Amino acid sequence: MSEGHQAVNCDGRAQSWATRRLKPSSQRKGEPEVHMNDHMRRLSTPWAIAVERSMRIANSEIAPGIILDPACGSGIHLAAMCLETGRVGLGIELNEEAGRFAAANMNRLLEKGGGPARDSNRILIGDGLDAESALKTYHKSLQNSNFSSAPPVSLLHVDPARPLDAQNHTLDEMAPPIGELLSAWVPLMNQDELGPALLLDLSPRLSRKQRGEIDAILDEVAPGSSRTWEWLSQGGGRIDRLSVWVGPLASESSHRAIRMGAKTVLRTVEAESPTPFISEKRGMPPSFDQWIVIVDPAVVEARLHSAWLASFDSAGYNPIWQRASLRRPILVSDTPPPDSIREDPFTVAVGRVCGHRLSSPDMENAPTVARAAERSGIGHLVLRCEVDPELHPKIQKRLNKALKGVEGDRGFIVDVPVSRGDNWHVVHVTCVES
Ligand SMILES: C[S@@+](CC[C@H](N)C(=O)[O-])C[C@H]1O[C@@H](n2cnc3c(N)ncnc32)[C@H](O)[C@@H]1O
Repeated sequence: MSEGHQAVNCDGRAQSWATRRLKPSSQRKGEPEVHMNDHMRRLSTPWAIAVERSMRIANSEIAPGIILDPACGSGIHLAAMCLETGRVGLGIELNEEAGRFAAANMNRLLEKGGGPARDSNRILIGDGLDAESALKTYHKSLQNSNFSSAPPVSLLHVDPARPLDAQNHTLDEMAPPIGELLSAWVPLMNQDELGPALLLDLSPRLSRKQRGEIDAILDEVAPGSSRTWEWLSQGGGRIDRLSVWVGPLASESSHRAIRMGAKTVLRTVEAESPTPFISEKRGMPPSFDQWIVIVDPAVVEARLHSAWLASFDSAGYNPIWQRASLRRPILVSDTPPPDSIREDPFTVAVGRVCGHRLSSPDMENAPTVARAAERSGIGHLVLRCEVDPELHPKIQKRLNKALKGVEGDRGFIVDVPVSRGDNWHVVHVTCVES
C-alpha cells in the first residue's frame, strides 16, 4: 500500500546532503562524477548509453510535457534525457537513499543556473506505481516553489529492477511490474495521434514468450501505436541492452540492432520484417580452408541477419548460417568474405579453418592446443567457444603463456555443432585470421 510521496528538489541542498554521505566518483574514465552506492552502481545504465539514447529521443516529435522515470535509481538516465531534450524531469524512487542521491546527481549533471524549468526537476521518494498521488505531490511541490504550471508527463522511460535469472521469472517480478506501471501512467500522459512516448528498458535475457507478453501489454495500453524492439551490443559477444521504443519514439521498423562503440553508434540495422534464423545442420565440421565469420549476436537475436547480409555487395560469397555453441552465430563459406563484411562493426572475427579438435580447450590441454595453433602460423589464439566462465580467463591466460614470443597471425577457436542423425556433437574449429 502506498504511503504517499516526498518531493526532493534537485538543488545544491540535495547535493550537499549527498556529498556528506558519499564522495561522488566517475563510473568510467571520462564520465561525469556522480553519487552511487554499490547497489545503485550494479543497476545503473552506463552513461554513454543513456546519452546516446537521449540524443535519439531529442530527434523525436514528442507532445509538450515532462519526462518521467518512475524507477529512476541513480537518476543518471533521467538527467541525460533532460540534458539532451531540454525538458524537465520527474524521477520516482522507492529507496530513499537512492532517491536522494538521484536528486543530487540531477543537480550535478544538469546545466547550472536557475529559472523555472531548471527548478522544476524533482525526485519523489515513494512508489512509482501510484501515479495519481505522485502527480499530485509533484504539482503541489511546484506550487510551493511559486510555479503556477502543472505540466503533464509526455515521455515515460522505465528501467525496472529485474530478477537476475530473468528467464525463469514472470514479468510481474520486475520491480516495478511493467503492466501495472503502464496501466497506471499511460492514461495520464499527454500524447498525440502517434500515441504515448514510451521507452522500456528490459532484460536482454527475456525469452521470446516474455517479449510476447510485453507486446500484449503494449497492445492494451497503447493500441495502434508503432513500436521498435531494439537489441544493442557493445561488441563483447552478448546482448547488452534490450529495449522497446513506442509511439513517437518508434522508427518505421519493428526490429533494430545496434552496435555501440565506446561512446557512439557504430552501425544500425533495421527492418520491418525479420526473418527466422535457421541454423543449417551439417554432418561434417567446416573443412580446412573454408571461412568462418563470427557475427555479433544482436543481429541474429533481432532476426535481422538476412537484412544485414543483404546490405553488402557480396556477389560470389554464398555462406550458410550456423549457430556455434548456444549463442554465437557464424557464417561458413568456401570463399573469403568481402572486405565490407570483414570491416563491419557487427563482425566479431573472420578466419580460415586450419584445425579441428573434439575436446574443449581446458587447463590441461591448453599447451597442446597452443602448439597445434602455432604449427598453423598462429601467434595469438583467442577462445571464442563455450567454456566455464570462471575457467575462461584462466585457460586464455595459459594459451597466451604457451604462445608467448611466438610470431604469427591472430587466430580463434570456435565450437561448431555437427549433427549425427538425431544427435549432435561439437567440433572445436581453429581458424587463422590472416
Ligand atoms: C534498474 S534500477 C534503475 C536504474 C537507473 N536506470 C539508473 O541508471 O540508475 C530500478 C530501480 O527501481 C527502483 N524501484 C523498484 N520498484 C519501484 C517502485 N515500485 N517504485 C519506484 N521505484 C522502484 C529500485 O529501487 C531501483 O533503484
